Amino acid sequence: MTEFPDNVVVIDHPLVQHKLSILRDVATGAKEFRELVKELAMLSAYEATRDFQLAETTVTTPITQTTTRVLAGKKVAVIPILRAGLGMVDGILELIPAAKVGHVGLYRDPQTLRPVEYYCKLPEDIAERDVLIVDPMLATGGSAAAAVEFLREKGANHISLLVLIAAPEGIREVLASCDDVRIFTCAVDSHLNDHGYIVPGLGDAGDRLFGTK
Ligand code: PRP
Ligand code: URA
Repeated sequence: MTEFPDNVVVIDHPLVQHKLSILRDVATGAKEFRELVKELAMLSAYEATRDFQLAETTVTTPITQTTTRVLAGKKVAVIPILRAGLGMVDGILELIPAAKVGHVGLYRDPQTLRPVEYYCKLPEDIAERDVLIVDPMLATGGSAAAAVEFLREKGANHISLLVLIAAPEGIREVLASCDDVRIFTCAVDSHLNDHGYIVPGLGDAGDRLFGTK
């Protein structure tokens, strides 16, 4: 993805691309949609945690004692942007069960497309954690940029944003507000339509997850 710097990672693994295709399909119902969002979140977190620090330890196997490695780095906070980000939390917690979860409530004003904050509850030690902000859709980037800025104000300085589909406009907006955030996405789509929806995208992620339309 030459247009963007190295801190933007497109996860082009075949399993990810296959699952994303089913997720996009208008015929995919809410149950399967939820399962796919969970699986894609797990696979994205696998990529996003690739640089976590390891430390040596000693383990006794049934055969012998050996030196092996375990996670040694900072603790993790998973921060879903409500509501659609909630669909990504459980998959990540299955991989990182000790992670704490904070919530940032933002919705897009349908007229202005600007994010409106309505809820926030974060782990007290957020500044000491690796932060994974999760939201399936990065469209104008207004919501994600607001969440990143907010978390930086609270002291977080190692922030990754995990989305399933990004528009180029959204990536540019997030990087403009904070150029060292790492962005992991399963796809970079073509553009936004006049209503701020990603094309081709998957429609409204919150409505498809929770069956509200
Ligand atoms: C969706 C999505 C993102 C946001 C992306 O949420 O889950 O949070 O839009 O758009 P942006 O990049 O232009 O800010 P929405 O505002 O529809 O709220 P919901 O999750 O409650 O449905
Ligand atoms: N929010 C969504 O859920 N989908 C889009 O395409 C854009 C914003």
